[in-house]
Amino acid sequence: MRHLPDYGDKQMRTVYLNGEYVAENEAKVSIFDRGFLMADGVYEVTTVLDGKLIDFDGHAVRLQRSLAELGMENPISKDDLLEVHRELVRINEIDQGMIYLQITRGAPDDRDFAYPPEDTPQTIVLFTQNKPGLADSPAAQKGIKVISIEDQRWARRDIKTVQLLYPSMGKMMAKAAGCDDAWMVEDGHVTEGTSNNAYIIKGNTIITRHLGNEILHGITRAAVLRFAKEAQMTVEERSFTIGEAQDADEAFITSASTFVMPVVEVDGAAVGTGAVGPVATRLREIYLEESRKVAV
Ligand code: PDD
Repeated sequence: MRHLPDYGDKQMRTVYLNGEYVAENEAKVSIFDRGFLMADGVYEVTTVLDGKLIDFDGHAVRLQRSLAELGMENPISKDDLLEVHRELVRINEIDQGMIYLQITRGAPDDRDFAYPPEDTPQTIVLFTQNKPGLADSPAAQKGIKVISIEDQRWARRDIKTVQLLYPSMGKMMAKAAGCDDAWMVEDGHVTEGTSNNAYIIKGNTIITRHLGNEILHGITRAAVLRFAKEAQMTVEERSFTIGEAQDADEAFITSASTFVMPVVEVDGAAVGTGAVGPVATRLREIYLEESRKVAV
């Protein structure tokens, strides 16, 4: 049983806002915050398994890069950030779940396209999401179905910004089609999923799009490709088409919250046998096992 902290007569999450731990209903951000008005902010999602953080270092490094690409300061040191993550896991008694982190350019005293003065304090928010059973998701046994949609996002998808409207629309398009997610396509080639990286498997080869500004450089992607190479699989980092995906032996996605998730249908066509395949299953096992060993 989890026992969340009592705030008055109510139990609720404790969240972190600008240096303080407060009840979730007490955490207030200005209407002038540039995250709210301009999507001028970056984020990270770090998974918690057995009360420990998966790949914290990778997320901290990518956060630093996203901030630098947008000319933003990093308002918190890596050690302090780790401490805040751990404290939130402890206070909110998270065994399996996620920690969401967002940093924005702060709240000047009016709306303006120009960046605010450099001494404007940034906004930093962290909150936990409790997801019991995250690692034993039934979807991993069944696999998920995806549709393809045109990639209509901006051109700097390598920066993890909070402008997630199009990915959100993509999820709704998938839902309306009776599917679980959408793979986005640009110039005839798959870029990535709405909130994950996309892969196909042909024989002993894993194919996933090369890194560039067109996709987010997934932390899970880096780990899974490393484990695949260690398991003597061939990795080809190149773009692929929806047709190739439909002809593949297997397909899957990766992200911090889904780990390795098999894809069994693309645009109505079964991938391979149409059931979850052995390679994706094995990669999921290896990923969970190895990441748990080095969780902090
Ligand atoms: N999404 N591509 C996109 C567009 C993403 O939003 C994500 C992560 C990934 C996978 O990255 P990682 O392996 O580092 O989680 C790829 C997170 C989980 C989210 O928005 O909830």
